[in-house]
Amino acid sequence: MTATPKISLAAESASDLAACFPANFLWGAATAAYQIEGATREDGRGLSIWDRFSAIRGNVAGGDTGDVATNHYHLMEDDVDLMGALSLGSYRFSIAWPRILPEGTGAVNSRGLDFYDRLVDTLCGRGITPIATLYHWDLPLALQDHGGWLDRDTALAFADYAEAVLRRLGDRVSGWITLNEPWCSSYLGYGIGVHAPGRRSMQEAVTAGHHLLLAHGLAVPRIRALAQRDARVGITLNLTPVYAADSRPETLRVQQKVDGFHNRWFLDPIFRGAYPDGVFADLGVASPPVQDGDLAEIAVPLDFLGINYYSRLLIRATGDRRPDSASLFDSYATVGPVPGSTYSAMGWEIYPDGLVDMLLRVREDYGPQAIVVTENGAAYGDIWDGGDRVDDDQRTEYLRKHIQALAVARLLGVPVDGYFAWSLLDNFEWAEGYSRRFGIVYVDYPSQRRIIKRSGLWYADCLATHRNQAK
Ligand code: FCB
Repeated sequence: MTATPKISLAAESASDLAACFPANFLWGAATAAYQIEGATREDGRGLSIWDRFSAIRGNVAGGDTGDVATNHYHLMEDDVDLMGALSLGSYRFSIAWPRILPEGTGAVNSRGLDFYDRLVDTLCGRGITPIATLYHWDLPLALQDHGGWLDRDTALAFADYAEAVLRRLGDRVSGWITLNEPWCSSYLGYGIGVHAPGRRSMQEAVTAGHHLLLAHGLAVPRIRALAQRDARVGITLNLTPVYAADSRPETLRVQQKVDGFHNRWFLDPIFRGAYPDGVFADLGVASPPVQDGDLAEIAVPLDFLGINYYSRLLIRATGDRRPDSASLFDSYATVGPVPGSTYSAMGWEIYPDGLVDMLLRVREDYGPQAIVVTENGAAYGDIWDGGDRVDDDQRTEYLRKHIQALAVARLLGVPVDGYFAWSLLDNFEWAEGYSRRFGIVYVDYPSQRRIIKRSGLWYADCLATHRNQAK
């Protein structure tokens, strides 16, 4: 990555910051179905790969599961009230495929659709713009039993599922995201097995990745055909800028390759209709099974790119690649802790400049029509005082610095027109279970009480100020 141009931004207060964004900028918070809903066996919902994965001891910290989560399925109206109290202009949620098609394909479960129908109406009734993600990792278990994302038919099934959702919600939802972070579904789910379905094969990871991309490509025209006229359709990628810790040629070479693995593996097919040269060989595997026409389907034009940004990678070549290893993973080390840097409870370095660098790079290299930051946030060991206070100044700092970074990127001409804090609520953080809190709202799990954290109050102040300035 090239370094961020030095622009200093004096916007420190909520109102200075709010003034950096146009009236129609979309401010929101994000969640995902399995992380918040609970009610995994209600109203005809089928099981998902996460139900099975989290039920197996050792997969999730503390043996936690999403069975109850934040009980959002039953507290939905209260949670939308909370969004109103936070002045959110928009809410990004995901739809659980196994609620809509309990077997993954076939008969539509209308009770599953009813829930999202009510959610969308409740949001619209409060003037909150609904943005829906169709796949945030909860594949119907029945499809996993046919190979999951290793089976090309799963991509076809996804497009049918998208159509079933659009038939019910297409008239009211303003933004559609096909997939959330296919890199995570592929690599974490199939490559190293730390996420469902818990497979451990890089060859499988690249096959899963291809079928996920195909699912996206096949679904986009089906979504457009049924979406309201001005709805926007996109995909969300987790992008991680990769920096070289030294200027040795071997480090610079490996930096390019690691960038290929983390970022271009998905960006290139989506925006250029081709996989990056050498990306699969670098991972020590064969190319995935690409059929004629797949890459053209995958490169379907999009209205926006969703970017989830949390941190960066700083790496150096180790030069001690095992002679028998063809894999990139044996040729570099990540550098950290970086002196002077701070880290979140996930162990992720806080690096707001990386957001500016990544946004500039994406505009430069891929020229998306628009960009939305669909997730950004941090986990900290929040403590609730038992009353109405959760002091999480570090999270406020994190959000403020990243929103400032966004203002810089806008100033430099990046067409970014939305920002979603991750997350509205503390929730089931995948393999970390409930041990990591990302919310701007605290959840006391035993009572399911919600307490707006100080960061939430700060964010609400920013958003209310922005709204008033825009009037
Ligand atoms: C992202 C996921 C989201 C959440 C955050 C912390 O990778 O999309 O569900 O877990 O990380």
